[in-house]
Formats: sequence, C-alpha cells, structure tokens
Amino acid sequence: MDEKLLEHLNKQINKEMYSAYLYFAMSNYFININMEGFAKVVKEQAKEELNHARKIYNYLVARNEQVVLYAIEAPDTNWINPIDTIKNALAHEQFITSQFNELFELSRNLKDYATEVFLQWFIKEQVEEEDKFRTLLEKMENIDNCDCEIMHIDRNLKIDEEYIE
Ligand code: FEO
Repeated sequence: MDEKLLEHLNKQINKEMYSAYLYFAMSNYFININMEGFAKVVKEQAKEELNHARKIYNYLVARNEQVVLYAIEAPDTNWINPIDTIKNALAHEQFITSQFNELFELSRNLKDYATEVFLQWFIKEQVEEEDKFRTLLEKMENIDNCDCEIMHIDRNLKIDEEYIE
C-alpha cells in the first residue's frame, strides 16, 4: 500500500478511538445532569466508534500492513448545555465525514481499488451518523431549549429500543 495512504488509515484508527472517547465523555456529561436517555444514545455511539476503529485495524492486518497506534487526545468537555453537546457531536461527525472523503479520494487517485471499496462502507455510515445527530438537534432546537421539553426528549430516548445498553 502507498505509504501516505497507510499513514492516513492509521491516523483514522486514532480518530475513531478519539471519537469513542468524545462520546464516552458526552455520556458522562449527560449522566451528571441526570439525562439518561441522551447518555444512552452517545454511549451507544461510543461503541460504534470502537467498532469503526476495529474495522480499519482488521483491514490493515488483512492487507499485511503495519498498524500504528497513536496516543489518544483527551476530548474538550466544556459543554454548556445539552444542545451545545449535540451540536458538538454533529460538527464532529461532519469533520469525520470530510476525513473519509479525503481518504476515498486519495485511494482513488492512487488506484488502490481495494481500499476504495473498503471505504465505501464508511462513506455510507457517515450519512447515517450525521443524520442521527442532525435529527436530534432539530428536535431540540424546535423546542427553544426549554428544559422541561428537553427532559421529555430524554425520557423518550431512554425507552427507545434502538439504543441498547
Ligand atoms: Fe466513526 Fe462517527 O464516525
């Protein structure tokens, strides 16, 4: 595999691990303000991120390439309210989308077709991830940040079976 592409894939493992850290931190934030529904959603997201890192790791092993594990940065956790937190989640996913787009373009330019096909799964996944947080954010913004209504959304998320502990 091209060295630059390999380096970027290894860095993407790190970004996925950072994403898991970020969502575990958000889960902890929501637990501390007694919003178990939101906590459940972002904790589930953290599990998905670990799985994304694992997928890239497995791919590099299957290609007989060297995996490099970089240090994971601590996330910035100064969220001021639930809307701010979910806005951060959406912005983060938009950033991750841009990273996969760049990886895809690089593999296409290098004619690394196996990597291009591998990355297609992530390109589709990012559409779902952005949609998840955008939908949640729109629901929250529509109620004008009224605490009682945010609590109502939280209760609904808590019983939503899509997010399993
Ligand atoms: Fe692994 Fe949320 O992107």
